[in-house]
Amino acid sequence: MITINEHYLKLQASYLFSDIAKRVAAFQKNNPDKDIIKLGIGDVTRALPPACIEAFHQAVDEMAVETSFHGYGPEQGYAFLREAIAKNDFQARGADISADEIFVSDGAKCDTGNIQEIFATDVKVAIPDPVYPVYLDTNVMAGRTGIFNDGRFQGLCYLDSTRENNFVPDLPTEPVDLIYLCFPNNPTGSSITKEQLKKWVNYAHDNKALILFDAAYEAFIRDESLPKSIFEIDGAKEVAIEFRSFSKNAGFTGTRCAYTVIPKECRAFDATGGKQALHPLWNRRHCTKFNGVSYPIQKAAAAVYSEAGKVQTRELTDYYLTNAALIRKEITALGFDSVGGDNSPYIWIDGRGRDSWEFFDMLLNKAGVVCTPGAGFGKCGQGYIRLSAFNSYQNVEKAMKRIKQALQ
Ligand code: MLT
Repeated sequence: MITINEHYLKLQASYLFSDIAKRVAAFQKNNPDKDIIKLGIGDVTRALPPACIEAFHQAVDEMAVETSFHGYGPEQGYAFLREAIAKNDFQARGADISADEIFVSDGAKCDTGNIQEIFATDVKVAIPDPVYPVYLDTNVMAGRTGIFNDGRFQGLCYLDSTRENNFVPDLPTEPVDLIYLCFPNNPTGSSITKEQLKKWVNYAHDNKALILFDAAYEAFIRDESLPKSIFEIDGAKEVAIEFRSFSKNAGFTGTRCAYTVIPKECRAFDATGGKQALHPLWNRRHCTKFNGVSYPIQKAAAAVYSEAGKVQTRELTDYYLTNAALIRKEITALGFDSVGGDNSPYIWIDGRGRDSWEFFDMLLNKAGVVCTPGAGFGKCGQGYIRLSAFNSYQNVEKAMKRIKQALQ
């Protein structure tokens, strides 16, 4: 008899963003004439930077000629991309990361979801609340939690991010082994200082723990004192893995390219307490289950690091940050408390006593604006909504006018 992985039955019915998409589709069906502005899922709307498109085209042309054609590439990514990443994203900021510590992949969602495979099932996992649902759901699927009860999975250590701690969780009060952190944060848009991050690195050393640091939104950091990478923190290489993406800095959500950094000295422990390097484990997993990102896409991603690419990606993130500033300004003028939008494309808004999903429904029905209900990211998200800056400036302006009217 074929039996299922019962842990899947513990999951909430559907993935948050699929759930929202279904609600929006139903609304659109019933209101075909209503114009909807989507400030929900963090999906970019602007075209790829010209430098990336040019490199992409050239690489496609190479594929059309037998002498420059590429079949399977190295699973970890082509050297030209890994070297450009190491030099520009790390060494240029004083983080000593080398090209062979970088694993190119098709998405940070996949990597943050898959990484847990290399850890034991019984590790104690610390998950922020609110949180990007992928970290949570993939650990549920792997059997690291009990059942869902009163808004939370049993067996996990939740790290509350609230107004009281400025949406940067405090260190856990119970021992944990695997810690998920994301900064600039999704969903709250909060950022972490070097001093705060250093405390987490110290915690990981003291407790033989490991930090999974999701830095997918680092390109939105404008405050130069904030860390873009956990590897800017002394001692992090032994205790952290970092995830990055080309989705938000260069508009690759539909093109797919990302990478994960596992320093050679990054370690976990075997059942006897012996130190084990994680780099070879992930390398083994990556080579077994993944055949590399296509050559033209890696060429397009490498163009992000060209002189033109750097200017164009900066313009792209500046554009979304201008939207974010407008959202923050308008929402503040309406009397709402919020965080984010300065070093982040997300604005996390306290609904002043409204239930998250009710606020979502109200904005959809009365303003034709799609947000993301905070409760979908965890118990601490109840009462909040998230607005994303990924849309055109004109649409953001229109959305904010409509929200104002809906609330009056
Ligand atoms: C989000 O809206 O939280 C993001 O789009 C999620 C993602 O990048 O997968």
